[in-house]
Amino acid sequence: MWLPLRLTLLFLFLLLSPRALLRSGSAAVVSGEEEEFHEELLLKPLPDRKVLAHFHFHSIAPPSKSNGRHHHLFPKAISQLVQKFRVKEMELSFTQGRWNYERWGGFDPISSNNAKPPGVELWAVFDVPEDQVDAYWKNLTNSLSGLFCASINFLESSTMYSAPKWSFRITPGSLRYGTLPREAVCTENLTPWLKLLPCRDKAGLAALLDRPSIYKGFYHSQRLYLTSNASVPAETVSGISLEQTLTVVLQPNSPSSSSIHSGESNFQPSWSLSSIFGRKISGKCVIAQSSIVYLQLEKSIFSEQKDNMDNGPNSLASEGFAGGSGFEMSLDPDIVIEEENQSQHKGSSVLYGFWVEKYNESQPLDLGLKWKYPVFWSSQQAPLHASRFLMGSGNERGAIAILFKSTNSADSSSGSRHVSDGCELQVDVFQVVPWYIKVYYHSLQIFVDDEAKPIGDFVHKIQVSPSKDKTSPGMMEMLLKLPCDVRSAALTLEFDKGFLHIDEYPPDANQGYDIPSAVISFPRFHSVMHLLSNDSIRKSPLLSRFQEKNRVQSYTEVLLVPLTTPDFSMPYNVITITCTVFALFFGSLLNVLRRRVGEEERYLKAGKKKGWLRVLLSRLLAKFRGKPMEEPDQPSSESAPLIGKKLVLKVILVAVLAVAWQFYST
Ligand SMILES: *[C@@H]1O[C@H](CO)[C@@H](O)[C@H](O)[C@H]1NC(C)=O
Ligand SMILES: *[C@@H]1O[C@H](CO)[C@@H](O)[C@H](O)[C@H]1NC(C)=O
Ligand SMILES: *[C@@H]1O[C@H](CO)[C@@H](O)[C@H](O)[C@H]1NC(C)=O
Ligand SMILES: *[C@@H]1O[C@H](CO)[C@@H](O)[C@H](O)[C@H]1NC(C)=O
Ligand SMILES: *[C@@H]1O[C@H](CO)[C@@H](O)[C@H](O)[C@H]1NC(C)=O
Repeated sequence: MWLPLRLTLLFLFLLLSPRALLRSGSAAVVSGEEEEFHEELLLKPLPDRKVLAHFHFHSIAPPSKSNGRHHHLFPKAISQLVQKFRVKEMELSFTQGRWNYERWGGFDPISSNNAKPPGVELWAVFDVPEDQVDAYWKNLTNSLSGLFCASINFLESSTMYSAPKWSFRITPGSLRYGTLPREAVCTENLTPWLKLLPCRDKAGLAALLDRPSIYKGFYHSQRLYLTSNASVPAETVSGISLEQTLTVVLQPNSPSSSSIHSGESNFQPSWSLSSIFGRKISGKCVIAQSSIVYLQLEKSIFSEQKDNMDNGPNSLASEGFAGGSGFEMSLDPDIVIEEENQSQHKGSSVLYGFWVEKYNESQPLDLGLKWKYPVFWSSQQAPLHASRFLMGSGNERGAIAILFKSTNSADSSSGSRHVSDGCELQVDVFQVVPWYIKVYYHSLQIFVDDEAKPIGDFVHKIQVSPSKDKTSPGMMEMLLKLPCDVRSAALTLEFDKGFLHIDEYPPDANQGYDIPSAVISFPRFHSVMHLLSNDSIRKSPLLSRFQEKNRVQSYTEVLLVPLTTPDFSMPYNVITITCTVFALFFGSLLNVLRRRVGEEERYLKAGKKKGWLRVLLSRLLAKFRGKPMEEPDQPSSESAPLIGKKLVLKVILVAVLAVAWQFYST
């Protein structure tokens, strides 16, 4: 009676338990949302006949309970990194080339978020007590170095990173910031970055990434930005959002026939995806929740066209712009999104969206843009254009100058909004200087509109941490308040060039030393797109990113400072001279020794044989040479070792001298 009951119970238990387990497992995933992956591509013609392609991949792992260490889509390497080093926020970028703020824009979300300084830039915020942050930073740089095949581990040294307080990001916290301006960026960095995508570069939008066409471009920046909910209870795994972007500026090679045909060079080049990348999109990455290609055009193009054409109907308002006048798209857009014009704001734009899921292998997506008329427009500029240069000459002193030039956009609508607060233009300057450039911060001078002005009038807030030799770099954070109608402003700082120890010189020291880019941001200006709201927009991570309020930010040039370098050829010269001396002495010594031995042997042989012909011959030879024939029993051999000993002594003396010279000279 009991046995069958027990058996059935057991049976039932066995039958149900895996399901129960499964359900509890899936409940954890379902309770949060599912993991998500979105892929988007934004294409934008630039005023200087180039094309911007901005790939945006977004992976989200929701916070999950206990055994949520396994991910379906989210890259495990990143989630482990976040868990292990308690990273709250991190951004890593690899960039080659310099973003041209004047031509490609300095106010839009892409230039503020995705224009990065050359080389590697890394910053991270940790969720650990302040005294442990440095240890976590060091371990993080080493892990990232391995993950991305780059020399990020050089940022481990305390001379290479700094802790900005308020000028770099508003969010306070345990932030560390470091850059490697001279890092060469290549495919070996791109491949690990692509590996983090669920479809790699095998399907979806990433399949467009043809290496030669990307690296041929004028600018490319690959970026990884992650945020996590690190402050979650211990047993749960924090939610992570990973944003991977690749921004490239490419020159479409315009078909030569059209330029000959039109006879004009001011035509924007017509292009298509296949002409830029050499590939087409043959469908989306199957796992992706959304896969969209956007084409962004500035509205000023349309107004330009209207002026050019002046044919009555407003092409902007009429059905779709696809059939519009000045240009032609090869495909009809699936969605048209307009940016709200903020009181006749110049830079508002229109986005055309194309769903990638509608296309497949046999009918690939090959978006093309063809211009019918020459169109001119200019990108929106940040209120001030910043550039940085070196002054002075020689190997001892110099000065760094940061020059701001008004772009006249401050008096347009976006600036006028801030007229109410006394019309001040706030500028944050964040500058890190390596320790061997000893900056004298008291020598700060300000020139506004070419006139030297007292510092107190314009510098609202300044925080300086001077460099310590071989320990930490110098850091300057400054908040400037300039009048709105300023035309130009310049800051200068004097410095002394330091000396390095012989071990600290990098290879090719004569090239010079890089001072990392300064970060210039405008806290009162936000690069934000107000898109006319639509549910499909809200789901797109790229567009929601565009709609976030971000400070307008730009980077200055990297400076190259020549430092005094020792003459690295001198040890080489010493070695060469020593070797020459050695070679001369040993050569002649061996020569002397060998010749005597040979002569003696010959003589001995000649003496033993006593063949009269040979003796005669040798005597004759000796006569010809003008030497008296030596007798065999003459003790001439005694002098040979004597000469040898003298020679050896001399050689040793010279060697000792050479070694001593080399030792004391270096
Ligand atoms: C960093 O790595 C070292 C060596 O692996 C280890 O001993 C140390 O505990 C790590 N520190 C942190 C904060 O993870
Ligand atoms: C972090 O938590 C907040 C609130 O709990 C949530 O809104 C946000 O989406 C979370 N972030 C991530 C990356 O999961
Ligand atoms: C949002 O976009 C979809 C797709 O184009 C369109 O059908 C819908 O009418 C739009 N909704 C609003 C509120 O504009
Ligand atoms: C955009 O600008 C036009 C012309 O200045 C104006 O008529 C229209 O109302 C503006 N639209 C919005 C949403 O502000
Ligand atoms: C590709 O899509 C077109 C229409 O969009 C459809 O007619 C065709 O059958 C599809 N081909 C394949 C192989 O799925």
